[in-house]
Amino acid sequence: MAIKNLLALVVLLNVLGVSVAQKGLDLNYYKHRCPDVEAIVLRVTVQYVSRQPSLAAALLRLHFHDCFVRGCDGSVLLRSRDNDAEINALPSLSLRGFEVVDAAKSAVEKKCPGVVSCADILALVARDAVSVINGPSWPVPLGRRDGRISRRSEVNLPSPFAGIAALKQGFFAKGLNTTDLVVLSGGHTIGISNCGLINKRIYNFTGKGDFDPSMNPSYVRKLKKRCKPNDFKTPVEMDPGSVKKFNSHYFDNVAQKKGLFTSDSTLLDDPETKSYIDRQVATAGSSFPKDFSDSMVKLGFVQILTGEKGEIRKRCAFVKPKTKETLTFL
Ligand code: HEM
Ligand SMILES: *[C@@H]1O[C@H](CO)[C@@H](O)[C@H](O)[C@H]1NC(C)=O
Ligand SMILES: *[C@@H]1O[C@H](CO)[C@@H](O)[C@H](O)[C@H]1NC(C)=O
Repeated sequence: MAIKNLLALVVLLNVLGVSVAQKGLDLNYYKHRCPDVEAIVLRVTVQYVSRQPSLAAALLRLHFHDCFVRGCDGSVLLRSRDNDAEINALPSLSLRGFEVVDAAKSAVEKKCPGVVSCADILALVARDAVSVINGPSWPVPLGRRDGRISRRSEVNLPSPFAGIAALKQGFFAKGLNTTDLVVLSGGHTIGISNCGLINKRIYNFTGKGDFDPSMNPSYVRKLKKRCKPNDFKTPVEMDPGSVKKFNSHYFDNVAQKKGLFTSDSTLLDDPETKSYIDRQVATAGSSFPKDFSDSMVKLGFVQILTGEKGEIRKRCAFVKPKTKETLTFL
């Protein structure tokens, strides 16, 4: 096609409101329909996260959970009357930060009602939250639509008890590769977990009162001070000493056998992930911010709904009520 024709087509598509986008999303998706969306979301996110920096970790994790289950379609935000939505699944119970997404959505709705999806708002909030704590920032192509389905039974997130093979497979299934796995695991540079998830690992790994031999004994001693044998509740820092700082200490920890979960430690069991870790340790994490940004952009494309699929919710916790038209259609 001649350049002139191609240009004409691009202009025509833009006039029709169809975005010319890569893989279905577009950095300028809301340029005409809601030009201030990014500024509004940033303002709300800064408000919350600057007051409560631990929300940055919560919001990053929320976006990850959204994308891994049914794709980045806001399904993690949905509530169900029967407690059978994603939010009711075991790994979701410790999710936090929903109030930030809701506040951002309300603020956006005031300015441009019915235009911006909850999935897009969550992707922006996660990006902005990390940047508030001086972590890396990344572009967020937009145009995701919200799903109408959220099922507790579909939550098959990677387990903290998983070994490298299962983790790689879980990421491959989402179009993410081994590099993405080790890079995004670096998200554990911020945030908290709890004693319940490591109890067995430090007290009774094989049922003989032992600890996981892949752990550094001095780290185990430290964790035992924090977590008593039947404590399933006390918060534990993912990256001791710098839970609110987005840095590359996570890789130093893992290299020193101080990964909190099996899923962290096991990154030493694969030549590719291990060499990435060694490289970050040797260079004080020189490429980590850029790598993290690239993998976050990739994560944001997982199984997205675009075009006529899905909907734009009014409130992120509830699907839109069915109209008469869709009711008769069903
Ligand atoms: C590789 C597989 C992964 C596994 C097995 C895993 C597992 C976990 C677990 C078990 C927790 C603690 C939850 C709790 O205490 O109830 C956690 C927390 C967290 N995860 Fe992951 N995760 C993985 C990947 C990721 C990715 C890709 C990101 C984001 C890029 C991420 C970001 C976080 C953050 C920020 C927290 C702390 C949340 C908070 O402070 O509220 N994780 N993860
Ligand atoms: C993973 O994908 C990225 C691009 O998305 C690529 O640059 C990288 O080399 C890939 N890594 C592996 C191990 O295939
Ligand atoms: C350790 O695990 C074994 C086997 O699961 C169990 O019988 C034993 O009671 C556990 N010990 C403690 C102290 O929890």
